[in-house]
Amino acid sequence: MSQLDLLVLGSGVAGLSAAVQAAASEPGVRVGVLSKADLAQATTRWAQGGVAAVLGGDPDSTDLHLADTLAAGAGLCDVDAVRVLVDEGPGRVQDLIALGAVFDLDAAGSLALAREGGHSVARVVHAGGAATGAEIERALVEAVRTTAASVMERWFAVDLLVEDGRCRGVVALDPSGVRHEVRATHTLLATGGAGQLYAVTTNPAEATGDGVAMALRARVAVADLEFVQFHPTALHHPQMPRPLLSEALRGHGALLRDVDGERFVEELAPRDVVSRAMAARMLAQGVTHLWLDATGLESFSSRFPTIAADLAAAGLDPAVDWLPIAPAAHYCIGGVLTDLDGASALPGLWAAGEVACAGVHGANRLASNSLLEGMVFAARVVEAIGRGKDGCEETGAMRPSNRLTLDAPAAPATDADPIKVREQIQHAMTIGAGVVRDAASLEGVDLAMPAPADRADVCEVRNLATVGAALVTAAAAREESRGCHTRNDFPTTQPVLARRFVIS
Ligand code: SIN
Repeated sequence: MSQLDLLVLGSGVAGLSAAVQAAASEPGVRVGVLSKADLAQATTRWAQGGVAAVLGGDPDSTDLHLADTLAAGAGLCDVDAVRVLVDEGPGRVQDLIALGAVFDLDAAGSLALAREGGHSVARVVHAGGAATGAEIERALVEAVRTTAASVMERWFAVDLLVEDGRCRGVVALDPSGVRHEVRATHTLLATGGAGQLYAVTTNPAEATGDGVAMALRARVAVADLEFVQFHPTALHHPQMPRPLLSEALRGHGALLRDVDGERFVEELAPRDVVSRAMAARMLAQGVTHLWLDATGLESFSSRFPTIAADLAAAGLDPAVDWLPIAPAAHYCIGGVLTDLDGASALPGLWAAGEVACAGVHGANRLASNSLLEGMVFAARVVEAIGRGKDGCEETGAMRPSNRLTLDAPAAPATDADPIKVREQIQHAMTIGAGVVRDAASLEGVDLAMPAPADRADVCEVRNLATVGAALVTAAAAREESRGCHTRNDFPTTQPVLARRFVIS
């Protein structure tokens, strides 16, 4: 395979936006997209609520969006990164519209804006009611297929190729499991998150933390891994990933109720506040789920057709039934540490989207800022490469931090069935490093590490074990509660810990 100019790993909003933009940037540029599943099968496709961006007029403003993002982030956001996010977001949404993505309009023909938790005004644009990710993915997949980018579907990136202190692509398995070196001048990690670390998640089976695990093995700095966002209103149902009941439902007036039918938390509080209140109420009442009451919502099935279909499949009618809900692992806030252009600490390696940590989310991501982050920082990566930038510049995203080191796994590697090992990891992480943790629960997380093999399913579980171990290390070190990291044994926020924990 000939050397690429840009190799994109992953096919969600960040990866595909970068590929489309790079392929259009100059004649003859060689762009490759490597995706471990079919191109359209990225976590982006599952995103519901929408994209938060200031596209309406007064009373909204980018200053207000910035303030809401910082408030949700509980003192850990990088203000410069958030400024970039809110200022450049509206332009990136317009780019998607120009590419053919169709967002919902109001009666006057303007973009319809929804409100979600932590937002002081309605500013979330959406598509198909609550099928925003699916529409963005559709438009981007179509666009990539019409560019000159070469697409490697069902290829699995095993590890970064690092030579002479620079990333030069990846070692990957082709669909039949044969190893190849895929060489590139620049490599963009856009591999998404690691929701599969937990037994109950809104993320698809592919969300196995591959990019962060590759970075950890190559000793590239990662940060903020202890912050895992649990979405409060996943449908309590055996289906996995759990069907999400979008926060937009609460934005439209749906109420949270406990087993006695009482309301117990402000429905539009940030997600960490709601998930914690739910976990406490479930513990106090000895139940496995609570209720979302959407019976008062008008036009449910026309405003939220995909959620209505999920509910009908589960035998629920939102006009009359309260909907059973419980928190589910939803979003990894931490990731590969980058500067404001998505450059990692390793020259030639870039990261954007959920796999990255540019500092925009702090200790808790504001609702609907994730698709936004992917599109904003992917575009900046391509622009920076176009300007000739090659590596990370020392910016806010790289400062104050505590360095942590990762212990080598204590137990020998296992060659047990990878499905069983994945379940064991999910069980251990759910019990020990879930919505609420403490020193003893984290100490008790015992993660089996599969022996290396040229099999994508084994590599995925190795990646989960690697990321899980790093997450537990960071969560144990953070002896405070902040944002979505809640410690029973350290219930307050410590001003001295308003620092990023970096592992490399
Ligand atoms: C939702 O629709 O509730 C999810 C949106 C998000 O994760 O930001």
